[in-house]
Order: sequence, then C-alpha cells, then structure tokens
Amino acid sequence: MSENVKIAVVYHSGYGHTKVLAEAVAAGVREIHGDVTLIAVDDPDQIDWDRLADADGIIFGTPTYMGSVSAPFKAFMDASSKVWAEQGWKDKLAAGFTNSASYSGDKLNTLQQLSVFAAQHGMVWVSLGLLPGNNSTQGSPDDLNRVGSYLGVMAQSNADQGPEIVPPQSDRDTAQHLGRRVAQAARRWK
Ligand SMILES: Cc1cc2nc3c(=O)[nH]c(=O)nc-3n(C[C@H](O)[C@H](O)[C@H](O)COP(=O)(O)O)c2cc1C
Repeated sequence: MSENVKIAVVYHSGYGHTKVLAEAVAAGVREIHGDVTLIAVDDPDQIDWDRLADADGIIFGTPTYMGSVSAPFKAFMDASSKVWAEQGWKDKLAAGFTNSASYSGDKLNTLQQLSVFAAQHGMVWVSLGLLPGNNSTQGSPDDLNRVGSYLGVMAQSNADQGPEIVPPQSDRDTAQHLGRRVAQAARRWK
C-alpha cells in the first residue's frame, strides 16, 4: 500500500464561514485516507511551518474582503517569503477556496491571487475540476459548483446569516470535492 498523502489546509476566517469550508475540504481529504492538518493563520507566530514543509499539497482558503484575500491571509502570504526564497514548496500541489457575501463579490480576483501566490512558490495548481451547476433551467442552487468557478471553490454566505446556516450544503459539498481531488492528485503526483 502506498504511503498516505499529507495535505495542509491553511485558512483565515474572520467570522467562521470560511472555516466551515476548510473543515469540508479536510473531510474530503480524509475520505480518501489522506493525512490532513488544518492551520488557521490568525496568529502568524503560531503557524506550523514544519507541517507545511512536510506536506505534499497545501490548500489555501480565505474570505474575500474588499475584493481580495483578507489582511490576515495576506500577512501569511508575506510571511511565506522566507520559504519562497528557498523555493521550499516547489512542486507541491496547491489549490484554493474563497467565500463571500455576494454571488460574485469579486471572488475570482481572490482565487487568482492565490494561484499567482502558488506559482511564485513553484507549486502546481489544481483546479476545481467540476462543470458549473445552477446555470440552466435544469439546474438548482443545490448543485455542486453552483457559483460556476473553475480555478477553485467559490462559496457564498448571506451577510446576515451565521456559519451554522451558510454557506449552504452545496458549497460545503463543493469544498469537500476539492479536498478529495487534491488528495487524489497528490497520490498520483507522489
Ligand atoms: C472587511 C470586509 C470586506 C468584505 N468584502 C467583501 C467583498 O469584497 N465581496 C463580498 O462579496 N463580500 C465581502 N464581504 C463579506 C464577507 O466576504 C462574508 O461575510 C464572508 O462570509 C466572511 O467570511 P468569514 O466568516 O470566513 O470571515 C466583506 C466582509 C468584510 C468584513
């Protein structure tokens, strides 16, 4: 039997909605027997850089704030420049997820930031790998990838509802799909 793949999920969540997605991504990794570590970046001094160095893949998650990654997530990105200088994450897999209140909310910009960040580190970006749902008369908001993203997971959480209610199940399932996909890709990549 091949060695387990190790996946880290690095995320920020100001109010808990993106954390729900991080946990769904982790559940997807576990579904295919990957080892998964969740790392919240709220306190830069608490980031386990050794765990990240050891991972086969890193999945980045952040809410979209003001059309971009959140400030705490950006602080993590900047702090990773020490790893960048050594190209310590070169050839690891990378993927991303984001969540915001509006259906668009300029989430594409956030995923683009994450993918450029991964490229600077020499990582290999794994796309979402799902056709868009909810875009025809046969579609529904219950579809996977209901927002219609390709680069990564886009989730939507109404601004006046808490993380126990939103993002909805379809977005959580889409995040779980990404976790499975990255873990499966890491197994092949190893
Ligand atoms: C400072 C700030 C900026 C935000 N900017 C956007 C935005 O550009 N687009 C959007 O759709 N929602 C925006 N929102 C809404 C959040 O993305 C949304 O509430 C999200 O669910 C928060 O995720 P979290 O609970 O993980 O922090 C913003 C919220 C905050 C607090």
